[in-house]
Amino acid sequence: MSFENTLIGAPKSTDRELEGCSEGFRDRVRRFGMRKMLDGSHFGGEFSDWEKQRRDGATLISKPGTILDFGCANGFLLACYQEWSGVDLEAFGVDSDEAAVNAARELFDDAAKDHFFSPSQNDYEKIPKRFDFAFWNVWDNAEFNESRNRMILDELLSRTKGGRTILGFYHPDPAVNARKLAWLPEHGYTISETKTSLNGHIFAAIDVPLDVSSTPST
Ligand SMILES: C[S@@+](CC[C@H](N)C(=O)[O-])C[C@H]1O[C@@H](n2cnc3c(N)ncnc32)[C@H](O)[C@@H]1O
Repeated sequence: MSFENTLIGAPKSTDRELEGCSEGFRDRVRRFGMRKMLDGSHFGGEFSDWEKQRRDGATLISKPGTILDFGCANGFLLACYQEWSGVDLEAFGVDSDEAAVNAARELFDDAAKDHFFSPSQNDYEKIPKRFDFAFWNVWDNAEFNESRNRMILDELLSRTKGGRTILGFYHPDPAVNARKLAWLPEHGYTISETKTSLNGHIFAAIDVPLDVSSTPST
């Protein structure tokens, strides 16, 4: 048997990486290319690394509904949460990078193209006022005691009344993630559930009562 023949039928690396994923998800990734998906989400590693670092966040989603990713990049995390959560999620995203928002529109079906928003397109006011879930990856160096970041958190909570806001702390130093997490209950935010990845990333869920009138002010 020639060397070439031994390669016939060998799965492509993307196919191998996506073993166990649904056909719809595989098709979507094949259509755009795995590298493009990961790069478009600012992730330099392979899909297996992405999964190790991101999948735990999906365990905090246990019912169907709408989900907003604040800082959605090309939407790949939303597509993965649709795949990993095991429930039906209607994806929405916001990103300050207009090219990323356009990429996210490409990734989702026609029906969902108007679910992605960027400030440069002047369409922030079109973002729905309520979601079942909001996700924010709390940009690596963001501190909640900066008023702008506190404002983002409070805005996400006010848009998830009766639902859940999930925060993803991706700082490479697990101690920094733990410190940011600890800040929340110290300032009146009640954490409902957390999940820590093997690499020290922390996902924290805040459930928001339906009738909450204001967010903590301490
Ligand atoms: C690392 S990506 C996160 C992608 C995905 N949500 C995840 O968790 O893997 C962070 C994204 O946040 C966006 N971003 C940063 N500052 C922002 C802001 N003030 N408003 C909206 N998006 C912002 C960036 O453009 C980038 O696409």
